[in-house]
Amino acid sequence: MTNDRQPNPLERPLEGHTVLITGAAGDIGRATAQVCRDAGAELLLADVHEAVHGVADELSGDGSPVATTVFDVTDEDAVTAALRSWANDGLMADRLFNNAGYQGDFANIIDQRSADVRRVLDINVVGVFNVLTAFSRILIEAGRPGVVVNTASMAHGGPPNMAAYGASKAAVVALTKTAAKDLAPMNIRVNSVSPAFIGPGAMWDRQVQLQAETPSQYFADTETEVADQMIGSVPMRRYGSLQEVAQAVLFLLSDQSSYITGFDLHVSGGAL
Ligand SMILES: NC(=O)c1ccc[n+]([C@@H]2O[C@H](COP(=O)([O-])OP(=O)(O)OC[C@H]3O[C@@H](n4cnc5c(N)ncnc54)[C@H](O)[C@@H]3O)[C@@H](O)[C@H]2O)c1
Repeated sequence: MTNDRQPNPLERPLEGHTVLITGAAGDIGRATAQVCRDAGAELLLADVHEAVHGVADELSGDGSPVATTVFDVTDEDAVTAALRSWANDGLMADRLFNNAGYQGDFANIIDQRSADVRRVLDINVVGVFNVLTAFSRILIEAGRPGVVVNTASMAHGGPPNMAAYGASKAAVVALTKTAAKDLAPMNIRVNSVSPAFIGPGAMWDRQVQLQAETPSQYFADTETEVADQMIGSVPMRRYGSLQEVAQAVLFLLSDQSSYITGFDLHVSGGAL
């Protein structure tokens, strides 16, 4: 019996596309990998941690190949070499979820150390730049269109005790707008997503714990109270799920958003 059903672009909007995901060993990266695979994409997964190799085995689905590699997004040469090597092997990503990120230390700005500020900016801003430019150069050389989604954060509004992280995510939003303008003539769209409180997951747990441990007038000193305070600041009165972030990313990666570029999509339950 043959399967002559034609692919439905609404059901599998990434059929025929290859998606590169950075930070793919993390919570949002993994969830988005699954959603993109279900949407028909071939996947290229990258992370600084070896755990990324196990993510390919975890993904369900029947078909398209999943390739994995380890690189540090702050290492421009390593990023370029990995993407070029994949492209030379016929694995050229035309969609990028530029998602690797690091929250940094939690402290009043007066107690922050510049080494950690540099590290946060290096991963969250220079890293996003490195992957975006390596990806775009390869596509431009091949004369192919592409789509980028950068992971920013509602922290771009400047949460207490997170000076470097907030600044880094504000920079991601600005970099996204510039990249959208600069790359529009080359047929590459660039948008960002800004999740607010997303859980369950490592970042939710870490921020609840560290905001409770860091003295401030904004948060209580127990994790239960801090979690309640955070959720209480969200109009929808819950945190978002990993799948809700992944679905927003899928929309921006797919042709369903074909006339949208330079936009930051809040995945925040109404939190500003
Ligand atoms: N979870 C949230 O509540 C939340 C909210 C807003 C924004 N974000 C952003 O979403 C993205 C994903 O976060 P997550 O919640 O999945 O966190 P996570 O810690 O589970 O995943 C982050 C991933 O990035 C990888 N990574 C870190 N530094 C790297 C580097 N130098 N090179 C390559 N990979 C590196 C980590 O190994 C990890 O696998 C991050 O950019 C984060 O800032 C998360």
